[in-house]
Amino acid sequence: MKEKLEALREKALKELEGLDSLQKLRDFQVRYLGRKGELKTLLKSMGKLPSEERPLVGQLANRIKDFIEEAIADRERVLRAREEERRLEAERIDVTLPGRGPELGGVHPLTRVLREMEEVFISMGFQVAQGPEIETDYYNFEALNIPPNHPARDMQDTFYIEGGLLLRTHTSPVQIRVMERFRPPIRIIAPGKVYRRDADVSHTPMFHQVEGLLVDEVTTFADLKGVLEEFALRLFGPRTRVRFRPSYFPFTEPSAEMDIGCVMCEGEGCRVCKGSGWLEILGCGMVDPAVYSFVDYDPEAYRGFAFGLGVERIAMLKYRIDDIRLFFENDLRFLRQFL
Ligand code: PHE
Repeated sequence: MKEKLEALREKALKELEGLDSLQKLRDFQVRYLGRKGELKTLLKSMGKLPSEERPLVGQLANRIKDFIEEAIADRERVLRAREEERRLEAERIDVTLPGRGPELGGVHPLTRVLREMEEVFISMGFQVAQGPEIETDYYNFEALNIPPNHPARDMQDTFYIEGGLLLRTHTSPVQIRVMERFRPPIRIIAPGKVYRRDADVSHTPMFHQVEGLLVDEVTTFADLKGVLEEFALRLFGPRTRVRFRPSYFPFTEPSAEMDIGCVMCEGEGCRVCKGSGWLEILGCGMVDPAVYSFVDYDPEAYRGFAFGLGVERIAMLKYRIDDIRLFFENDLRFLRQFL
């Protein structure tokens, strides 16, 4: 019996050294010292011993139990220390590593061009005005002298909203809103979003325009030409050529379109300018006296001019972009080129 107990102790000690986790240590404890463990099983056979030997063997068994318990406690300390070390190693931070800086965003190319355009007009004394994107038929069409059956009102072009409202198809309604509130002299630009039912490489259902309006007592077509030519030179460079072609808008008379010399071929004729050497960049004209009657201006007392240009078109020509949809896909490979 004595030998068996000693042997058990040796076996336990040996096994203990090989245990490498706290879980295995718990299992070990149950296996040796538990209610159905090896030590209890061994002691069950004590009943067969002569009665005078029992106390001695009992004492020895208790000592062995204490001994194993102590050994388990020692082993546990070692394993816990090891685990702590592993954790510290895993959580180690190298404070000398360089930091990861936040990535800097950039201004969208359209915003850049818009700001540049605003700066040019502000430097010429224009103020920035705004109007709503959801408009009434009155401001978008009627007060701009666009009669009820004008093709511009066609469902093909205009997004209509219930309740007689619509998404403005141009920034020209801001002309009316400004003239309703202020008397001449007026010198404003009105940048903003406009909407048309149209989608291909050069049209998106939403795009941006900058409206211009100048009304004063003495204003001539030469003033219009001077302001817009100066604008073109400032935006596209001092060697830019411009020309004005007669055109038609219901709210200006006479009306014109301004072209600049093709930025791709400089007048030689290419695919972009369709061989003409010229690119149309804006519509303009002298404010039609019929418009003044809607805002209670005396058509005998005032003269003015107005213009409207497309921001995407200007940006495409300036940066030589051949697909308008690139502006709205937010592909970083495109946007990063303008940082
Ligand atoms: N509103 C016109 C358009 O969208 C442009 C324009 C504005 C023309 C002002 C003349 C005067 O096509």
